[in-house]
Amino acid sequence: MFSNDTIQRFKQTETPFYYYDLGLLRNTLTACRDAADVYGYQVHYAMKANFNPKVLQAIQSFGFGADCVSGNEVKSAVEYGFGKDKVVFAGVGKSDREINAALDLDIFCFNVESVQELLVINDLAGAKGKKAKLAIRINPNVDAHTHHYITTGLDENKFGVNMWQLPDVVDTLKNCQNLELIGIHFHIGSQITDLEAFKSLCVRVNEMSVWFEERGFNIKVLNVGGGLGVNYYKPDTDNIADFNAYFKVFNDFLTVKPGQEVHFELGRALVAQCASLIASVLYVKNGLKKNFLVLDAGMTELIRPMLYQAYHQIENLTQDAKAEPVKYDVVGPICESTDCFRKDVELPESFRGDLIAVRTAGAYGEVMASHYNLRDQVQSVYSE
Ligand code: LLP
Repeated sequence: MFSNDTIQRFKQTETPFYYYDLGLLRNTLTACRDAADVYGYQVHYAMKANFNPKVLQAIQSFGFGADCVSGNEVKSAVEYGFGKDKVVFAGVGKSDREINAALDLDIFCFNVESVQELLVINDLAGAKGKKAKLAIRINPNVDAHTHHYITTGLDENKFGVNMWQLPDVVDTLKNCQNLELIGIHFHIGSQITDLEAFKSLCVRVNEMSVWFEERGFNIKVLNVGGGLGVNYYKPDTDNIADFNAYFKVFNDFLTVKPGQEVHFELGRALVAQCASLIASVLYVKNGLKKNFLVLDAGMTELIRPMLYQAYHQIENLTQDAKAEPVKYDVVGPICESTDCFRKDVELPESFRGDLIAVRTAGAYGEVMASHYNLRDQVQSVYSE
């Protein structure tokens, strides 16, 4: 729900653009931090979800760490003031250049995804006379019951080390003088709304923690990843995820030894609800079988609906929401048939120039924008 003043502001701004409600972002961050503090949990922000400068500044100012998946994200996190002792570098394909840069910055930890990567980091750290701290990413084979494109913790996924490969990891670590195993890392997928999946994860983390301890490793960090989902259907009334319930699952089911830290890597749940994509209707095409609303934004600005069949609420901000609805296929201007936000969307009768909001677009929205069709870079506007 946007205030009349906000809609007036939209009318004076060239579309398409991302609108960020920084007040809602701060309320979300407060809720998350307060809920995590109850248990002394550390949250690293999964920067891939959104690295808009204002978003990063806000998140850094709340004391969160940064979960990075490229050398540039590591560099950027440090530049934005995330403490080096709170920067984690994950990713299945870290290049030598990226590893070297992260070693130079003395980041907190590498989340390592294969035996081969262990050997590479060991060599590169050795060449610098350093010891690299790492957590091994274990593929827990836990089903997150989310869209198969964003499930990551099953044996068939490319991420992490499968459990049957762990003896190999232990043997390798014993021969790598320049590595220090400080933790175990897991991530089962994204947009998880059924907290049961996290209970199953806890059971697996407990098993793995014991397994490593039995082999003489001191596991200081249990990193359980991210994945908490948000309500894409209720961006006005349910726009802050239930962080209390989420962290409570870990408190109830995770075995934490004295001195052990529990780390989280949340992306979507922190930033999804604070932004909407605002577009204009360029053309209304009434066909025999279908009516199309052609917007000035498409898959180049927000690709989630086209890539994952993701649902985003779509609203006409110009017409009276209570008017008799008409069904439209809401499409973008890109030369691809898949460039459709959704089919058969019920909206009030709509006209050229109407403002359209695509809600809950703060996570994996602006960051996944592209220049396909040589489109302009999408702009952002903010409310404090
Ligand atoms: N940690 C790891 C190792 C990850 O791979 C991810 C997300 C996260 C943390 C953060 O997950 P979150 O809390 O945001 O669910 N582009 C897709 C989502 C891709 C998620 C990639 N990994 C989408 O738009 O739905």
